[in-house]
Parts: sequence; structure tokens; C-alpha cells
Amino acid sequence: MTALTLSTAAASGLRADAIVVGVAKGAKGPVVAPGAEAVDKAYDGKLASVLETLGASGGEGEVTKLPAPSGFKAPVVVAVGLGAVPDNSDQGEKDAYAPETLRRAAGAAARALAGSKKAAFALPLEDAEDIAAVAEGALLGAYAFDAYKENGQNGRNAKNGKAPLAEVALLGAKPRDKAHRAAVERATAVTEELNRARDLVNTPPNDLNPEAFAAVATAAAKEHGIKVQVLDEKALAKGGYGGILGVGAGSAAPPRLVKLSYTHSKAKKHLAYVGKGITYDSGGISLKPAGHNETMKCDMSGAAAVFAAVVAAARLGLEVNVTGWLALAENMPSGSATRPGDVLRMYSGKTVEVLNTDAEGRLVLADALAKASEEKPDAIIDVATLTGAMVLALGNRTFGVMANDDAFRTAVHETAEEAGEASWPMPLPSDLRKGMDSSTADIANMGERMGGGLVAGLFLKEFVGEGITWAHLDIAGPAFNEQGPFGYTPKGGTGSAVRTLVRLAERTAAGDLG
Ligand code: BES
Ligand code: MN
Ligand code: ZN
Repeated sequence: MTALTLSTAAASGLRADAIVVGVAKGAKGPVVAPGAEAVDKAYDGKLASVLETLGASGGEGEVTKLPAPSGFKAPVVVAVGLGAVPDNSDQGEKDAYAPETLRRAAGAAARALAGSKKAAFALPLEDAEDIAAVAEGALLGAYAFDAYKENGQNGRNAKNGKAPLAEVALLGAKPRDKAHRAAVERATAVTEELNRARDLVNTPPNDLNPEAFAAVATAAAKEHGIKVQVLDEKALAKGGYGGILGVGAGSAAPPRLVKLSYTHSKAKKHLAYVGKGITYDSGGISLKPAGHNETMKCDMSGAAAVFAAVVAAARLGLEVNVTGWLALAENMPSGSATRPGDVLRMYSGKTVEVLNTDAEGRLVLADALAKASEEKPDAIIDVATLTGAMVLALGNRTFGVMANDDAFRTAVHETAEEAGEASWPMPLPSDLRKGMDSSTADIANMGERMGGGLVAGLFLKEFVGEGITWAHLDIAGPAFNEQGPFGYTPKGGTGSAVRTLVRLAERTAAGDLG
């Protein structure tokens, strides 16, 4: 991964391939952002007008490259757009530039510098929060998945494109300042695990089946002192996990339930994170048509996020207990697959009539939620690429938050915002429950088509233990980016929900949640 350093050196003397500066969109043209004063001075104070002549406006995500001023060791200056000049920037107020603005700009700059070895970022860094944001943006933006290309694993090769930016120096971040160092260390731990979640999502489903995912989780857990338990198909049968087994029944690769337990001796609270881990969703017997299955390796994004968040919590040594549950199965059609019309006996004891085998996520989650409830955690948060309906409702960049507790739903939504993730609260209207009434079983796995994301949430709610606070994140939209990269978000797996889960654990450890 990209290495980060803190540096108080002058931009001119730095041996780097490029100096990154910020440019904002002012009323009368581009404005050079704080942090780049020395660079601007070296252009005789003409950087803004040079940028304007080059066609730059300071718009968000815009990247303009120009030759560095004479006397600079670095040959190139990269100006990255920050968007509108903030209202409070001339009032000496903190946070002139929002953390998310800095994160995105740093990400766009890091992407534009793929193929370079080292860049110095001279962006507006007022405090540790800004440093954290730029560090996160740079480390997330520099991500590339090339394990399947010739000379892959981030090697440099004409055929596989450019290697990610190898080193970033944050100018103005003080190596001797404890808060600055801590910000960089946290950003490094979180983004490394988030990028690992992206790798898992991007790994083709022929190489990442439930068993392989469980092996990756086991190895990482051992490395970070996390207790791990893997239930294989025999243990699942013995335990009565009818939902997970029913979904995995059609695949030659049997399902797994992985439990990751991170504990801290000073923990006062216990969080349970539950992830949907369908390593490939063909739809099963209710087969998805062509055009709807090419990206369905992404259907384990929830489990990848949970895995990454638990490992990050361990690396950060958070004073909270976090249990991660990865419900892993491959949804395939075959002679042994669950049929529409079959009834499954779930771990909770409830029976489910499977009307559509493509509504499989709620089945594996139901078992994991019921199991997670047995430990009576203070809260359960599940993460899942659950419904196409949520994508229709909220688009490709925003996940839905549902909960059995209004205050908790609000807290999760606000925590996501704090972490730099777009989400929106969604209701669980009880009138939609009757659409799942089954004449044969306790409940059907499908209900009304309208409000399908909420119907799925209502189904899950039935499997959460009595009196346990629960939230459900439907990340079907933002988990996998099929369009072009933007900000710090690459094409493919995005690592959606990882930062929200980490932040939730931090806030819980700090005692300001629940
Ligand atoms: N994995 C899909 C949901 C999905 C859709 C994720 C698009 C990412 C992008 C899920 O298992 C599914 O197939 N849901 C069905 C449910 C329906 C059959 C009730 C859906 O949303 O169509
Ligand atoms: Mn499905
Ligand atoms: Zn699915």
C-alpha cells in the first residue's frame, strides 16, 4: 500500500514527482487554497491566473497539471479542485474546508498520480481532523486492483496500466505532534482494511467462495489477536441453520458461518456486526437474467465490510467488544438447490416459505441475526447488498438505514455522515408485513414489490432477538461502482460501510452512543 509520511519541509526542496495543491472555485475565478502559499509565491503569486488560463475553475475533482516553478526539485505541480470557496474561510474559523471535500480532493489527486513514486500534498491542513481526511482520501484514492493482470499485485506494466502512487508526504503535518501522528496512524489502519475489503469484493467468484473467504478471515483474525470460529456445512446442519444451508444448497462450494470476536479488557459495550456474504448471487432457481448477474460477485460486500471493520477495531485497540458474523454462501441453481416453494426451518425455529430463491440475502442474514442475538449485544448492525429496490430509491451512492429504534437509526445515519459516507434513514412500515404472510409457513421470503427494500428490512426484523437494538444498512447501491472512478472511490468494490462501522465502534467505545 501507499506509504504516508508527515513533513514540515518546504515544498521547493522536496524530492518528489509532484507537488499537489488545492484550488477552489471563487466568485471571480479559481483561488489557490491555503497550504500552497509558498508554491504560489514561487510562481510570483500568479498560480491562480495561470490555472485560469489553463482552463481550471477549481471545480470539485478537477485536476490540472503544470510545470513546477523554477528552483523546485519536483518537476510538476498538480492542482486539484476543491469546489466552492467555503463561506467561513476568511473568518478564521476552523474547518473552512469540510473533511469530505479534502478527502475527495486528495483521492482525485492520488488517482491522477498513478504511475508516480512520490507526491507531496500541500493542501489546507488546519488540524488533525484535516490531516486524517487528506490521509484517508489519498490512501483510498491510490487503490488499484490488478491481481489478475499480467505482472499484477500493483506491479508496473504497460499492459496493466500504472502502479498506484507509492508515497505521499503530507506537508504541514508535524511528525512530532501526537494528534497529527495519531490521525495518520488511524487513517492508515482503517484504509488498509477498507482496501482489503475492496480486494475481496473485486476477487472473482471462482476464486472467492465461502470456504476461501473463511480462510482469509481466519488468517487475518489470527494475525490481529481476534478469536475466530468457522462453522462448516456439517456444523451448520448440526446447529439447525436452515437459512444459510438452504441458500448454499445449490452450490458445489458449501456455505460457512464465520464468527470473529474482538474483545478488550476495558470494554463496557458489545456490538455485533452481521454481514451478508453471498460470494456469488446467480439468483438460484429463480435465475437472474443476463445483464443482472455480471457484477454479483459484489454480493458479499456486507461481509467484507464487517470483516474489515472488526480487524480495524482490533488494530486501533478500541475499548469495545465487537463480534463480526459473516454469513457466507454461494447462491446457485442445481439439482440440489432450494426450489421456489420449499420451506426452510431457520436457526430461530421459524419456518420460511421460499417464494423466490433470489431473495436469498435475508435468509442467510436471518440465521446470523438470530445467532448473534443469543449473546445479547448492546446493538446489532447488519450490512447487506440486499435489494435492487434500495438502489432505485436512493441511487448508486447512498445506502439506506433501517432500524427497530428511531434514535438508533438517527445515530447510525449521523455516524455515517461523520465518517464521510452518504446514507439516508428509511422506515419499516408495519403494513408491509402482511404481504409476506404464507399459507404454509410462518413467513414467506417475499412480499409486495413496492417498497421492496423496506419489505426486506421487515423480514430481517423478525429474526432479531427480543429487546435488542438493531439497525440494517442496505448498501446495494454504493457497494460496487460500475461507473467511472470519482474522488477516492474506484471502479468496482468501494468498501462501503467500513468507515461507518469503525466510527460506530469508536463512538460506542467513547461512550457517546447508546
Ligand atoms: N443481491 C441482490 C440485490 C442487489 C441488486 C445487489 C443489485 C446489488 C445490486 C439480492 O439478492 C436480490 O436479488 N434481491 C432481489 C429481491 C427480490 C427477489 C425480492 C431484488 O432486489 O430484486
Ligand atoms: Mn439475490
Ligand atoms: Zn443477493
